Amino acid sequence: MFRKAHILIAGRTQGALTGLSGLLDGYGGIAIDTKVHGNGHGELWRSNEPLPDALVLGIGENWHVELPPLLAALPANKPPFLVACPVNDIDLMKLAMRAGARDVVTPPYEATALAERLLELARESHQGQPTKAARMIAFINAKGGSGGSFMAVNVALDRARSLAHRVMLVDLDIQFASLSSYLNMNAGNGLIRALESADSLDTAAITGYAQKHESSLQLLTAAMSSLIAPDDIAEQRVAALFEVLGQAYDDIVVDLPRRIDRIAATVLERLDKVVLVTQQTVTHLQDTKRIFTVLRDYLGISNDRISIVINRFDRKAEVRRADFAEAFPGVDLLVVPSDFRRVAESINLGTPVIESAPGSAIGKSLKALSERVLPDLAQGEKAAGGLLSWLGVR
Ligand SMILES: Nc1ncnc2c1ncn2[C@@H]1O[C@H](COP(=O)(O)OP(=O)(O)OP(=O)(O)O)[C@@H](O)[C@H]1O
Ligand SMILES: [Mg+2]
Repeated sequence: MFRKAHILIAGRTQGALTGLSGLLDGYGGIAIDTKVHGNGHGELWRSNEPLPDALVLGIGENWHVELPPLLAALPANKPPFLVACPVNDIDLMKLAMRAGARDVVTPPYEATALAERLLELARESHQGQPTKAARMIAFINAKGGSGGSFMAVNVALDRARSLAHRVMLVDLDIQFASLSSYLNMNAGNGLIRALESADSLDTAAITGYAQKHESSLQLLTAAMSSLIAPDDIAEQRVAALFEVLGQAYDDIVVDLPRRIDRIAATVLERLDKVVLVTQQTVTHLQDTKRIFTVLRDYLGISNDRISIVINRFDRKAEVRRADFAEAFPGVDLLVVPSDFRRVAESINLGTPVIESAPGSAIGKSLKALSERVLPDLAQGEKAAGGLLSWLGVR
């Protein structure tokens, strides 16, 4: 699961903190917290709070007064930290280094260099720690009916069958849940019940809420009868649920509704990969651009964490593959052909195409999609997806 690096910027005055946090704000992969340690006494964070991944002590020109109490407030098991100070002074440097600072940085602060240094320190603080967390991908359609749910089911089932992985498929389309029927399973309410007990959920309890497919695939859905509006669900519960899912499974595949609300954002920021499913019309292309902008510019999801699939691909269609390649340079682009007969049959039977027609063109393209978005790490990709995957460094 992708995890943003949590950076705490602490200092004696708000002024020093605002400038630094403004500089790093919106930098992909970083979540910033600030803390004014005004009177110079007490702790920088409570002992029951999770430690930040890295720390910046932002101080003003009056460093003689500001820095010593901040250093004294650091606990023994502090994360790696930098000191940012407008004056360049050898005594300041000595004081900071003796206390364990990795660097003292002075203006002009350069946003990218500072962000990259902090990401490096954050990675360091996680080295050697167990980082077991599922890979997590989501399918989202660029326009209703593009085929997002169809692909989520096929990919999840393929990974559950082909890899010896525990795969969880989550239907977050709370209002129009459709995944259970794609798999010929009863509509269940496990998702709502798991969210209700999110505070006390653990890896053993979560499997009690999951529905089991006859493969090893497990499913969490909200039955239509539950009449839950997405606004009724607190994002803290969604975050807690996905934390536990991340510990209990190897791969998590999420079917997201197109509406990007607080819940979707909570999921999206944890994703290793988001797969945007679209088709070949001008309005699909426009809507794909719109969602892409939201994902990248508002949620900070970098290009390498986005794949676009053109579903029902037709070589002769007016909007061509090249038009998508041009609109989304450098973004992974895949195609899946149309096959009305096989798809309709598979839905009627509740047997995904990847299983009912694996040798067909559509079956093969779904297999290729599955291998691309959730590769078999046992086949040589371990190094790329291992320890650093929590930071999205791949
Ligand atoms: N490649 C394809 N060839 C033929 N039919 C397809 C193909 N892909 C999807 N379909 C069909 O299109 C319909 C819509 O698919 P699906 O439910 O996956 O769309 P969606 O993007 O999840 O839509 P929604 O907006 O309802 O969530 C389904 O009946 C599905 O079987
Ligand atoms: Mg759908």
